[in-house]
Amino acid sequence: MQEGLIIRGLSAGLENKRIIDALHLEVPDGEVHALMGPNGHGKSTLANILMGHPGYAVEEGEVLFDGENLLDLEVWERARKGLFLAFQYPAEIPGVTVSKFLKRIADLRRNPPRNTSVFLSELKENLRMLDIEPAFVNRYLNDGFSGGEKKRMEILQLLTIQPRFAIFDETDSGLDIDALKVVAAGINHMRGPGFSALVITHYRRLLDLVKPDKVHILEKGHIVACGGFELVELLERDGYDGIRRIVANPANPEVREAVYEH
Ligand SMILES: Nc1ncnc2c1ncn2[C@@H]1O[C@H](COP(=O)(O)OP(=O)(O)OP(=O)(O)O)[C@@H](O)[C@H]1O
Ligand SMILES: [Mg+2]
Repeated sequence: MQEGLIIRGLSAGLENKRIIDALHLEVPDGEVHALMGPNGHGKSTLANILMGHPGYAVEEGEVLFDGENLLDLEVWERARKGLFLAFQYPAEIPGVTVSKFLKRIADLRRNPPRNTSVFLSELKENLRMLDIEPAFVNRYLNDGFSGGEKKRMEILQLLTIQPRFAIFDETDSGLDIDALKVVAAGINHMRGPGFSALVITHYRRLLDLVKPDKVHILEKGHIVACGGFELVELLERDGYDGIRRIVANPANPEVREAVYEH
């Protein structure tokens, strides 16, 4: 059994609209991969489908996580298995304090749950690492948080849950330079055996700090190219037209080692 995530021939979307189209993607255990692609081409939809969002239907294909078919599992079962999604747009939950929320998710993930003093000392350490004011934990989750504060909160959840597989959906968007470094440090802290991740982003700045093991380009719901960091550089320089030209002519010596069409 191969550990990590394997997506094979996945076609999915809304009842009347296919958004993900015959998509193949593998993220072996211990690796961090980047997923890039133009606006509206299906990156967040893929993240939602992996997490089990009930608004999308799977037509075809399979998704294996540590050898088990994810698509058969309920959302909560996926979360218990260690799947984690850092949302592109984190929800505000007035009435639930950050500390209560974090204690609850930590308890659900760990069996048996940590005792409160261990939880609190880990929380303190994570707050320090993420440069978050301790008073934040008394506020309602994301309620009135700035955009950057919400993204840091996603990373605080990541460190609290210690998932097996994390999807970061544009966690870098709207971050100042210092916050970007904090987010990258949080992701890098998790790196190693027993953890893998898909980092969805439009720009190289987070990827400069979280060097991905592989880069995938998604267009029209399909992975059109896959390679190393040179793909990010190519994209930054020539945009998606540059990628399309190379995919159309795989003999192009510039990146023929790196780019291939599935
Ligand atoms: N629930 C929905 N109802 C209607 N259209 C939807 C729904 N979910 C996704 N779509 C459409 O599917 C397409 C893919 O959307 P998705 O959010 O996955 O794009 P994305 O690649 O994440 O884009 P971005 O880079 O802008 O975040 C878009 O055209 C979007 O409008
Ligand atoms: Mg998106």
